[in-house]
Amino acid sequence: MTRTHRQLHLALFALPHGQLASAWRLPEIPADSTNDFREYHEAARIIEQARFDAFFIADKLTAGADGSWQYGPPVDAFEPFSLGGALAAVTERLGIVATASTTFQHPYLIARQVLALDHLSRGRAGWNIVTSYSADTVRNFGLDDHLPHDERYEIAEEALQIVRALWRSWDEDAVTWDREAGVYTRPGSVRPIDHHGRYFQVAGPGEFRRSVQGEPVRVQAGSSGRGMAFAAAHAEMIFTAQTTLESGVAFADEIRGRVRAAGRAETDVVIMPGFSYVVGSTDEEAHRINAELIETVQPEHILGSIRDVVQLDLRDYPLDGPVPTLPDPETVQGHQSRLAVYKRIAETEKLTLRDFARRVAAQRGHHQVVGSAERIADELQSWFESGAADGFNVMPHTIPGQLREFAEQVVPILQRRGLFRREYAGTTLREHLGLARP
Ligand SMILES: Cc1cc2nc3c(=O)[nH]c(=O)nc-3n(C[C@H](O)[C@H](O)[C@H](O)COP(=O)(O)O)c2cc1C
Repeated sequence: MTRTHRQLHLALFALPHGQLASAWRLPEIPADSTNDFREYHEAARIIEQARFDAFFIADKLTAGADGSWQYGPPVDAFEPFSLGGALAAVTERLGIVATASTTFQHPYLIARQVLALDHLSRGRAGWNIVTSYSADTVRNFGLDDHLPHDERYEIAEEALQIVRALWRSWDEDAVTWDREAGVYTRPGSVRPIDHHGRYFQVAGPGEFRRSVQGEPVRVQAGSSGRGMAFAAAHAEMIFTAQTTLESGVAFADEIRGRVRAAGRAETDVVIMPGFSYVVGSTDEEAHRINAELIETVQPEHILGSIRDVVQLDLRDYPLDGPVPTLPDPETVQGHQSRLAVYKRIAETEKLTLRDFARRVAAQRGHHQVVGSAERIADELQSWFESGAADGFNVMPHTIPGQLREFAEQVVPILQRRGLFRREYAGTTLREHLGLARP
């Protein structure tokens, strides 16, 4: 497998204060700053300076499992579109990817919100299309249990069709702004969509003209067979959690095969696995920093927060005992692929529950490297060149600390090796990603 993109792409997976669940406890993080926009602005400034493609904002539509909010973020932070809009106003080139759920958010409202973000940012928006795996989310929307996993994707298919139809319900040149004649839009250039489907009825048209990049970028991270089918048919930026190079290559091969089968070109998609890391001036220093960071993890926090994935409240089990047997991924309606990763870690590494929690606290099922900037750059290069990745969703343990280290230590190495841009070539997210205008 050879690489399909000339240079690699970088997005920041921007959890509040970093990927490490306990990052907020570190003395370097200002108190009461999870809801302080300046923290997010600083992160955006760092990555825009480093020429990242995008800032990614996740969303689960829930405060999490019972009581895990006691132990810290992601609660007490912003929902994606307010944050994305604020970031759009203080950045110039950086892409902004915000999450919205087709299971719980109406497509008419999603179409408006995502397109508004695209206009606010002048063509830098992406939509992370999720079907929502958490049983905690379900209970915020009047249901006791999940809709069946594959049916959520059927709803997503229809929702996406509506969203794109609304985006396209204005012709490119619809706005004439004819002051003399008093004609704002050309007759016939804005049309109802008259959608009558299985799940939705939407008349349209949309309320907004097209954006500078034509249409927002479609982002998705399905990992099940049905999820990959959706990604292959519709997604342009594809996120995934892969722990090894081999599984990364296998996933990318499978997705690219499905993309071709769906009649699209391999270059129409950008595959971006998550990449968790701790960087130090030497490998030894990186390991020392990692050990110190992991010390701050409260196992109850992480075990509570993954309850919806592992379908067990692991807080009920002794921390120094083994990880209890986790359910078979195929038997759950939630996050099957992440459960499979956790189950594999628990079963092959024979960790105590405490060490399992520490392991998951920052890595969360993604590939992780602890080491010098050279080592980290080598690893990114090897994933890129072996075809496992067209880029990475960068997951610093701490923001801004470890993020700044990545931007200042790792990015320059990638640039020197010709693997990453020194300047933005375009102004839109589509241009950064090398994606065609639809
Ligand atoms: C990097 C990454 C980011 C994700 N972000 C979100 C998110 O913000 N909200 C969400 O509900 N799910 C998120 N997911 C989960 C996926 O949308 C999807 O539910 C999951 O990968 C399971 O796929 P499947 O339903 O095909 O099994 C994310 C997954 C990955 C790998």
